[in-house]
Amino acid sequence: MPEADQEGKRYQAETPQAAPGFFLKGCHQLDWGMKNRLARTFNPASGRTVMLAIDHGYFQGPTTGLERIDLSIVPLLPHCDALFCTRGILRSTIPADSQKPMVLRASGGPSILRDELSDEQIAMDMDDAVRLNAAGVGIQVFIGGEHETRSIHNMTKLVDAGLRAGMPVMGVTAVGKAMTRNAQYFRLACRMIAELGAQYVKTYYVEEGFETVTASCPVPIVMAGGKKLPELEALTMASNAVQQGAAGVDMGRNIFQSDAPKAMIAAVAAVVHQNMKPKDAFELFRSLKAKG
Ligand code: R5P
Repeated sequence: MPEADQEGKRYQAETPQAAPGFFLKGCHQLDWGMKNRLARTFNPASGRTVMLAIDHGYFQGPTTGLERIDLSIVPLLPHCDALFCTRGILRSTIPADSQKPMVLRASGGPSILRDELSDEQIAMDMDDAVRLNAAGVGIQVFIGGEHETRSIHNMTKLVDAGLRAGMPVMGVTAVGKAMTRNAQYFRLACRMIAELGAQYVKTYYVEEGFETVTASCPVPIVMAGGKKLPELEALTMASNAVQQGAAGVDMGRNIFQSDAPKAMIAAVAAVVHQNMKPKDAFELFRSLKAKG
C-alpha cells in the first residue's frame, strides 16, 4: 500500500491562475476546435456560462419540470448560454435550427430504482456527438463510489475520444448517498477529474472552502445546482460560487422547478455575467415574474 501524502494547504485562492492567450484557465494550450467549442459554451466577455441542465431523465425519467421539455424548456433556450441534455432529447425535442451550444450527457446505466448509481458506462459514441454538432460532452465520475475505477476509466476513454475529435469533456462529480459533501471531498474529486484529462468540471457548492476547490482545480469549474431551493438562496449560492472562482453554473432544478423559470434564469445570468448581488438579482426575479 503506497503511503498517501497529506493534502496541501497553500491554495492562494486570491491569485487567479494565468491563462495566456485564452480566457479560460487551463485551456490555453488546447487545440483550435476544442477552444472554439469552449468559447461557444462559455461567454468570452465574462469568462462564464449559464448552462441549463435538463439531463435528469437519463436515470430518473420525467422529472418534475421536465415532463414536457417541448413546453417547459424550449422557451428557455434563448436565455441560457448552453444546454446540457441527452442526445435522445436533442434529436426528439430540441429544434435543430437552435444556435445554442449543446453539451451532451455521455454516460448512463442504472436507474433511480437501483441503490447503486455508480454502475455507469459510456452511453454515446464520440462520432455521434460530432454528428450532432455538440459543443461538449459530460460524464459522471463517482470518486469514492463502488464503481469508482470504472467511472474514471469511462471518463478517460471519453477524454481520449474527445481529444481526437476536438470535443471538450465535462467531468461531473457524482456524490453517492453516503458521501460527505465537503471541500476536502470536492478538492479531491475535482482535481482527479482535471488531472485525468477533463477540460472542465461540474461540481456542487459547499459553504466552507469552496474557493480552495476552485483554486486547486487547474481547469474551469461550473457549479451544479442541486435540489430546488427558495430563489434567493439559489441566487446566493450561484453568486458565492462565481465570486469564489467558479466559471459559471450548470443548473437545472433551481431554474426549471421555479414557478417563474424565465425570470429565474435571467436572475441567475445577472449574477453570473454581471456580478449582480443576490438581493438585487432576487428583486430582478420578482419584477420579471410579476411582468409574467
Ligand atoms: C447530474 O447528475 C444531473 O444529471 C444534473 O445535470 C445535475 O444534477 C444538475 O442539475 P441540478 O441543478 O438539478 O442538480
